[in-house]
Amino acid sequence: MITTQQKTRKSSQQYTVSSQKLRPKRTLKRTLKKPAAAPKQTPQKKSSQKQVSQKQVSQKQALQKQSSKKQVLKKQSPQKQSSKKQSLQKQALKKQSLQKKQKNSAKKPLSKSSAKKSLSTIPVLSVQNLRKSFTIANNKPSHILRGLNLVAYKGETIAIMGRSGSGKSTLISIITGLEKPDDGMVTIDEENIAAMEENELTAFRAKKIAIVFQQFHLISHLNALENVTLPLNLIGEKEGITERAEAALTQLGLAHVKAQLPSQLSGGEQQRLAIARSLVVKPSILLADEPTGNLDQETSQKVVAQLFDVVKKNNVTLIIATHDLELAKKCRSRYFLEKGILRSF
Ligand SMILES: Nc1ncnc2c1ncn2[C@@H]1O[C@H](COP(=O)(O)OP(=O)(O)O)[C@@H](O)[C@H]1O
Ligand SMILES: [Mg+2]
Repeated sequence: MITTQQKTRKSSQQYTVSSQKLRPKRTLKRTLKKPAAAPKQTPQKKSSQKQVSQKQVSQKQALQKQSSKKQVLKKQSPQKQSSKKQSLQKQALKKQSLQKKQKNSAKKPLSKSSAKKSLSTIPVLSVQNLRKSFTIANNKPSHILRGLNLVAYKGETIAIMGRSGSGKSTLISIITGLEKPDDGMVTIDEENIAAMEENELTAFRAKKIAIVFQQFHLISHLNALENVTLPLNLIGEKEGITERAEAALTQLGLAHVKAQLPSQLSGGEQQRLAIARSLVVKPSILLADEPTGNLDQETSQKVVAQLFDVVKKNNVTLIIATHDLELAKKCRSRYFLEKGILRSF
């Protein structure tokens, strides 16, 4: 890269060279005028004048040679000249297009690979120093979560992996408010749910927190549309309920099965129905506990694709507990739950 200082230095060097080239021409003009004005000359002066005039003549001849050479060059190689011109034009065009590209890239939205940098700075979830132990009968308490911390931003997708029994489901249950922690804070949209009363928590969860389980947990005697309408009824929504439920079904590609009971749907369709039901209230956060655990690989891939699509469209924060590394790779952030805390990987 050329800095501005280097550029100035370079151009001043060029200037010096060109001025040196021009200097003999100017000296010659001046010296040629002077003798014409001199009236009397001594012999010595005459001879020196002769020498000067000889010098002048030779200088003049040299200059004439130079200029004639230039003319010859001009005449002889028009292709050379034009090709030089063309290459200069090409360089200028390249420079222009590069500058345009740089300008455009500054305006363009960030690409998928650079999406990491553009993550929202609004924290939707903040988990601080979370502790949870279980004691069975007279056994020693087993410390499942030991001062766990986690922050999730708006629209962020997070995968939580870890061996069976490491505490993934326990963490999800505490974040959704289904289980109480022994200690620590769980803040969703700036409200500490760990400190909420049961009634307050139920109302808050219905509006803000969506949950999808491995077992779909659909209401078996309600059809697909009614299953999706239910959460809207629970939060007391009155207007446009059917339209909103239908729109959610359409987003998950289930409009054509809206009148069917869960038992009349495939595993993949049932999980997509569970996703539609969880997102219809436009929650702040969606928690999914092994959402593909009951599906075959092909169906799982389809469900995951639709899940990520709908999460992106709704700009929802997603936290998935999963054993599936391929699924985890689709998430922006990945954590491994071990010894009661999360480590990023
Ligand atoms: N309600 C409970 N009572 C007693 N132990 C529990 C309870 N829930 C979970 N555990 C224990 O906590 C540990 C973590 O379980 P879990 O969170 O389901 O792990 P993961 O989802 O990672 O497989 C397990 O050893 C499990 O037996
Ligand atoms: Mg689990």
